[in-house]
Parts: sequence; C-alpha cells; structure tokens
Amino acid sequence: MATNGAAAPATRSAYPITDHTFDVVVVGAGGAGLRATVGCSQAGLRTACVTKVFPTRSHTVAAQGGVAAALGNMGADEWKWHMYDTVKGSDWLGDQDAIEYLCRNAPEAVYELEHWGVPFSRTVDGRIYQRPFGGMTTDYGKGPPAQRTCAAADRTGHAMLHTLYGQAVRYSTEFFIEYFAIDLIMDQNGRCCGVVCLKMDDGTIHRFRAAMTILATGGYGRAYFSATSAHTCTGDGGAMVLRAGLPLQDMEFVQFHPTGIYGAGCLITEGARGEGGYLTNAAGERFMERYAPSVKDLAPRDMVSRAMTMEIREGRGVGKGKDHIYLHLDHLDPKILHERLPGISESAKIFAGVDVTKEPIPVLPTVHYNMGGIPTNYHGEVLRKKDGDPDVVVPGLMAIGEAACVSVHGANRLGSNSLIDLVVFGRAAGLRAASVVTPGEKQPDLPADSADLSLSRLDRLRYADGGSPTADLRLKMQRVMQSNCAVYRDGPTLEEGKRLIHEVWDASGDIRVTDRSLVWNSDLIESLEYENLIIQAVVTMDGAENRKESRGAHAREDFDKRDDVNWMKHTLASIDDRARTVSIDYRPVHSYTMTNEVSYIEPKARVY
Ligand code: FUM
Repeated sequence: MATNGAAAPATRSAYPITDHTFDVVVVGAGGAGLRATVGCSQAGLRTACVTKVFPTRSHTVAAQGGVAAALGNMGADEWKWHMYDTVKGSDWLGDQDAIEYLCRNAPEAVYELEHWGVPFSRTVDGRIYQRPFGGMTTDYGKGPPAQRTCAAADRTGHAMLHTLYGQAVRYSTEFFIEYFAIDLIMDQNGRCCGVVCLKMDDGTIHRFRAAMTILATGGYGRAYFSATSAHTCTGDGGAMVLRAGLPLQDMEFVQFHPTGIYGAGCLITEGARGEGGYLTNAAGERFMERYAPSVKDLAPRDMVSRAMTMEIREGRGVGKGKDHIYLHLDHLDPKILHERLPGISESAKIFAGVDVTKEPIPVLPTVHYNMGGIPTNYHGEVLRKKDGDPDVVVPGLMAIGEAACVSVHGANRLGSNSLIDLVVFGRAAGLRAASVVTPGEKQPDLPADSADLSLSRLDRLRYADGGSPTADLRLKMQRVMQSNCAVYRDGPTLEEGKRLIHEVWDASGDIRVTDRSLVWNSDLIESLEYENLIIQAVVTMDGAENRKESRGAHAREDFDKRDDVNWMKHTLASIDDRARTVSIDYRPVHSYTMTNEVSYIEPKARVY
C-alpha cells in the first residue's frame, strides 16, 4: 500500500490518496458481491471487497420468501419448466441464453448454499422446503403451480447473506468496510482499471487498481418515495457506469411488489400468498379470481399490482380512504404462521398494528426491484455497443445482482428469481474472472488523471453552497417518480414526469451541503447518493416515456398491448451529465438459447 499524495486539479483541498492493487475488486457485499468474492478468492485471485455498509447489513438481508430452483422436493419439477416460466414472466424481453444459464445452474447453486450452511426450512423427510410463488408453474404452464421456491422460513435472504459472509471470511479476501465508491477509473481505451473510494470513518481517499472490477451495488429503489428497498439502495454502480459514458439497459421496467404494508411500505413476502394467503377488496371479494382465473393470487407481481390498482381506482379499495387492499392470513393455522412466516407476522404487528392470526394486513403495491441495470452477458461481463455490434465486452468491468441487467428478468421478474440470480451470476462472475485474470499479474500504471473525476465530484459536493438542501431535491425526485412513473402510465403523465424530473436534475446544480468535514459526513454521503439516484430516475422516466407499448411492469394505458414488431428490444439509455441530456438507443433481445438442449420459446399472449 503506497500513499502518493497526489491532489486532483480543480479541487479546493488536497486529497492525499492511498493506493491499493488487487487482481479483483468487488464493489458491494450483498448476495451477489459475496458470492463473486468467494469465487474469486477460491480461484487464488487477490480480491478486495469494498462495501459502504457492513456486509451482513447489505439489502439481501431483507429478502424474505425464498430462492427459486427446480429441485423437485415437493412434487415434479424441471429446470426447463423454470426457464419457460421465467421467459413468460419476462414478457419475452429476457435474453433466453441467459435465462437458460440461470435455470439450469439454479439447483447446483442452492445445494452449494445448503452445503455451506444455509439453514433452510425442511420437509418431514429432511429435504429443503419449497413453497409456491407467483408465476412459477409446472409442465410449461399447463400444470398446477410449482413448489419451487426454497425457503428459510421468511428470512431466506438473512440466512443466505450470513452464510455467504462466513464463507467469504474463510478465504483471504480483504474487506474494506464502510468505504463509499465514488467513481470508476477508466483508461483512454475504455478499460476499467478500478475504483476510487472515500473511507467514511476517517475521510481518507482510497484508489483501488484492479484487473477486474465487479459491481454488485444493488438497485436504486430509493429514487421512489415508497419502496421496500433499504435507504442504502441508491444504485451507486449504475450511476458510476452512466458517468463513465456507458449505457444502462431497460431502466423503464420498475417492479412494484403487490404487498407492501400500507403507509410504511415494508415488505410482506409473496410467500404469504404461497402459503395460502389471499387478497380481498372492500366487498370481501377475492378479486384475483377475475384477473388470473387459473393461478389467482399466485399470478406474477406485475399483474397482481395492476389488479389491486384497478380495484382501488374503481372504488373497491378498503379502509377509510378506500385506498388499499387486504391480505388475509387469518384463516391459516397459527402454527404454520409461526413456523413459516414469523418475520412478517412481527412486521405486521409493528408496522400495521395487526395480529395476522385474527385480522387482515392492509397492503399496497410498493416499489421493490429494478429489472433494468448495467447490461451484461451471462458471465457478468459488462456490454456496450460499438461499431454496430451490441455485445462488445467492456474490458475490466463486470456487474452482477440487481445492479446488472443480464437480462434474465426482462420486463418483469418472478418472485424468488432474484436471490437465485445473485448466487448463479455471482458464481459465474467468479468463474469468468478466474479465466481472464492471472493471479498477481503486473498491472499497467494508472492514467495520471485517474482520480480526477471522483475527487472533483467529491470536492464540488463537499463545498456546495446552493439554495437547495439535498433532502429537498431528493424528496422532489421521489415524489415525481412515485406519481408519474407508477404501476400504470400514459403519455401525458409520462411527458409531465419527464419535464418534472429533468427540472429536478437541472436544479441539482443548486444543491447545498452544510457539513464540510470528511469524517462521517452523512450530509456529503447522502448528496453523493442523491446524485446517483437522480441520473437513474431521469433515464427511467425518459425510457418509460419513449417505450410506446405495454410489456411486463411497463403498463401504458395509451398503448395497452405488447408490440413485438416494434418493441421487442432492450432500451439503452446514456447521459451527458454536463449538458444534462439523455440519449436512447437499442439492443436486440437474444432470440436464441445457450445450448441445443432447449429451443427458443416463441412469444405468445401472456395469460395465467
Ligand atoms: O416476496 C418476497 O419474498 C420477495 C421475493 C423476491 O423479490 O424475490
């Protein structure tokens, strides 16, 4: 470790830099980041894991219902059925080669977790317990719902994250905890050479040089006012990629989880409906029977969220304001609730004052997941379009987990396909890094200006003395996203949303930060995070306004059909941060599988 004392130009203060060199630097320590970290370390690569929160506080810890894999423990199942469901769930925007990779490798990834010690719930004969989840079926949609979602009660993410952290410390990984990644280091040939970070507890700057940088920084749910995501979910990796001049993919596809607790937004797992829970309107009607006659409450999330919104709009919402829906678990055996849904029973008590054994839970669709993100192939390598080729690998850069768009979830992710995405593609990234990086290989010197982008941004925000406090700008952004880019969208709402969100972006030049220190400066960190959020909010809104069709979670009332002729393509959105403009391009959906063992699943109407 060397300190070179270099100060970036155009900054008010000198920022001494501490340099580190690793084979691989993983940014983020959630499920994907930790799984990649383990893989890289196992392969003998000198690996750093940089994270802004303590690893076991990463948002994966909040994942409840489970991790999908066709183990067949609770009835017949096959990975090919899982693949069919995922393609259909994605509304044919998912890349089928990547979906094959995910579903084929899912069982092995779950058994690996089991062997590493994840305390899965068990069947009476000792196998991993699996519950039904929305959109998971058998026999290519012709059979009954599949019991495919492997669960550790309703704390599956917690169990996985703690186990993965245990595995990561088993190897020689070096953890850099409470380091905030500011920006990527890119050389003039477009190669990523590492990342610059702020150590939050002492305000020192750390420059990580690495042959491979793996972004595992999660989603940007906090661009919205009400989200199940932690306040740390500010899409830091996606924003670094945008500022590096690279595009993000399919950002208009934002998932609303049907059952956020009304008012609080906390997650009530879909596993609640998997265990037999159901939704009712003000008339006490189980309305999902009208919207999805075969799978009812186990329809995919986009459909359930739309059905709930429709019931409320048509005056059949519950409560004083008729503005939410009831989720019933009160008919279920309290012993089952205690054993399989202890966490949400507690959340319902704390956040809604409800005893789930006696009363329904008030719920409302709440932002939960970003299908869009950093475009990658199924090895985790980041892609860009160059000279007409849409799949050119960006050297030195990978992305995994919710930060990435592989794309396996397409326009709508199925519940429990996120946790499996984390471990399957976390593992894939480790394998790829091991094949393209030679342990200990000498790395080229960093460009002379390698820290300039990061330090000028840090310094500008540190001394920002405009008239708009960060919290005000953030609230404006969140309100615009919540009201103008919601479950249902239409032209006028999106055009207004575009105007309003660009106004917030423009006003960001007037940001005010009050604390000028560098040590535990939460004002500064929240401002860096706000800057990350606003550029992703803008590309989300612009992408939504631009896409003139309805597909998966993108439901336009003025273009209410899927349009495969014009819109079966990925959106690529880039920004010019100085001019504050967005440009939109496209990338074809992969209409081929990974192997000949399965054929391309032809598009058809998505009914359940
Ligand atoms: O409802 C849930 O437990 C969430 C699962 C998921 O988003 O995959």
